[in-house]
Amino acid sequence: PIVFLNGTYVRAEDARISPFDRGFTFGEGVYEVCIAVNGKFVDAPAHLARLDRSLAACGIAHPPERAKLDSIMEELLRKNDVTTGLVYIQVTSGVSPRNFTIRPEGRSTLLMMAQASDFEQTSAFREGIHVQLREDIRWLHRDIKTTMLMPQVMAKRDALAQGMSDTLFYDEQGITEGASSNVFLVDAHGTLVTRPLSNRLLAGCTRERILDLAREAGLPVDERPIQRAEFATATECFVTSATYLITPVLTVDGVSIADGQVGLVTRTLQRLYCNSMN
Ligand code: PDD
Repeated sequence: PIVFLNGTYVRAEDARISPFDRGFTFGEGVYEVCIAVNGKFVDAPAHLARLDRSLAACGIAHPPERAKLDSIMEELLRKNDVTTGLVYIQVTSGVSPRNFTIRPEGRSTLLMMAQASDFEQTSAFREGIHVQLREDIRWLHRDIKTTMLMPQVMAKRDALAQGMSDTLFYDEQGITEGASSNVFLVDAHGTLVTRPLSNRLLAGCTRERILDLAREAGLPVDERPIQRAEFATATECFVTSATYLITPVLTVDGVSIADGQVGLVTRTLQRLYCNSMN
């Protein structure tokens, strides 16, 4: 594969990042995942705007290529022969001696890479997934998309070990989000529910699109926390992310949502979302 690192396109095996990069030593980095379908990016401006917000929140300087990120995204698809897949963007604060507070003198590190994947063809998207619930033990700035992903990696590995494919987190107010997704549920009254934005969850670009599509379609929508007990009476549940698109959730901790089949609202929103991407 060809990646973009600090101003140049290089083969992945030739890419060099300093051992003193603060993204490596301190996890001082932020990232984005944006997908392309048939060569067209989905919500690229929203992803780049969130990258700006994450950088600002962490006090990381913009990489000098900031204004050209969308053309680099396009070029990475071309150079890697990807038409449907994802582009990953990571920015770290750069290189400094290992000292918590010292500011790097050089540029922010920018790494971008492309990966082919057909999101509409996965069994998760088509058939749904099984998830477990875990207490949200992450920090309280989940609105910042940082590369400190240890809790997510552990939660997802743990889900696999339990025979499930992902984890949804909860705090004292209810479900926060999935380990790499936002969570929606159709409640007992037929209302589409998802947690309102705050520092306790990531403002998903897909979440925003789904809320818009649902409102346009005339579905009742409520942004409020989902209680764990509500899975027992919910008629549908799904998760959203750039790569999950809208993926049905069939069981939570081994208990079926309604009859355990993919519901009508979920299928409708999948169709509307996929149509809007093409
Ligand atoms: N993750 N919440 C968390 C914790 C996430 O990591 C993500 C996305 C989302 C959904 O955001 P969006 O709809 O903008 O993709 C919510 C990406 C896909 C990842 O880490 O691979």
